[in-house]
Amino acid sequence: MSEQSKSHKLPEKTGLSFIGCGVMAESIIAGLLRQNIVVPSQIAASHPRDERREELKMKYGIRVFDDNADAANAFPETDTTVILCVKPQRLPDVLKELAGTVGQDQLVISIVAGAGIDAISEALNNRLVVRAMPNTPSQIGAGMTAWTCSPEVDESHKTQVRTMLSALGRELFVETENMIDMATSLSATGPTYIFMVMEAMTDAGVHLGFSREISKELVQQTMLGSVLFAIESQKHPAELRNMVTSPGGTSAEAIYQMEKGALRTVLSKAIYAAYKRAVDLGKK
Ligand SMILES: NC(=O)c1ccc[n+]([C@@H]2O[C@H](COP(=O)([O-])OP(=O)(O)OC[C@H]3O[C@@H](n4cnc5c(N)ncnc54)[C@H](OP(=O)(O)O)[C@@H]3O)[C@@H](O)[C@H]2O)c1
Repeated sequence: MSEQSKSHKLPEKTGLSFIGCGVMAESIIAGLLRQNIVVPSQIAASHPRDERREELKMKYGIRVFDDNADAANAFPETDTTVILCVKPQRLPDVLKELAGTVGQDQLVISIVAGAGIDAISEALNNRLVVRAMPNTPSQIGAGMTAWTCSPEVDESHKTQVRTMLSALGRELFVETENMIDMATSLSATGPTYIFMVMEAMTDAGVHLGFSREISKELVQQTMLGSVLFAIESQKHPAELRNMVTSPGGTSAEAIYQMEKGALRTVLSKAIYAAYKRAVDLGKK
């Protein structure tokens, strides 16, 4: 993680063009503006639907386009970074639309799950490609983004990427693209696992007789506090768990049932399945 990137703004001459502006692109835009990394006039976004374009314009004061190539060309006088934020299934068509539009000296950042650097590079005839994998807590500045890049991406572009990604939470450079697929299953898909556990625990509280409101509060604060405690204490999770597992007590009884239900195996299989899916999406 880069401390150096934390307080930076992007130079005024940098334009950012978001191609496809759904949930993740909006999270990034909101984070960049919240942290004053750029001003609205430095951002352009494309979207196929009128209402969505209008919404983005009203909410953030950014420039919006219905044509992807027009968005990529929105700042002809500036050093424009193109950020690919469409769904993996849409990417091949979008790359065709952008081919010949994106210059060889423009930085291209893709957050598209599975899409490899070489495929993007070849389609756009551009060697300056970054693959980043954020997650949804980016929306509140508490995200985790793993990223990597092609060898041609230089230090100044890397600093720009760190500056952008640190506006979303924490960023971590990884050495290989395989690690991006791995991070897709662990940190990018990760909130889904946490939310499902959160939901299951809340339902269990309701089953015991708590109101949903009370159960939700008990569960959310317990999850939040446990994560902060684990980070602050720097102890292994098993050690923290052992500290509260008395012989013949409630934790021991609950652990016995979770092991019997193969909780660890289910999680491990789920994360491996998500990894395989990320790899498969890339092949397509
Ligand atoms: N969600 C996550 O947690 C997460 C995390 C890391 C990475 N990612 C990656 O981020 C990318 C975007 O995910 P998302 O969750 O933001 O999806 P999303 O909300 O569906 O955003 C994609 C947007 O692209 C629009 N779109 C469709 N066709 C288009 C086209 N031809 N040109 C331009 N825009 C088009 C969609 O419009 P419509 O709504 O009209 O279809 C939609 O608003 C995906 O590739 C995903 O793998 C997602």
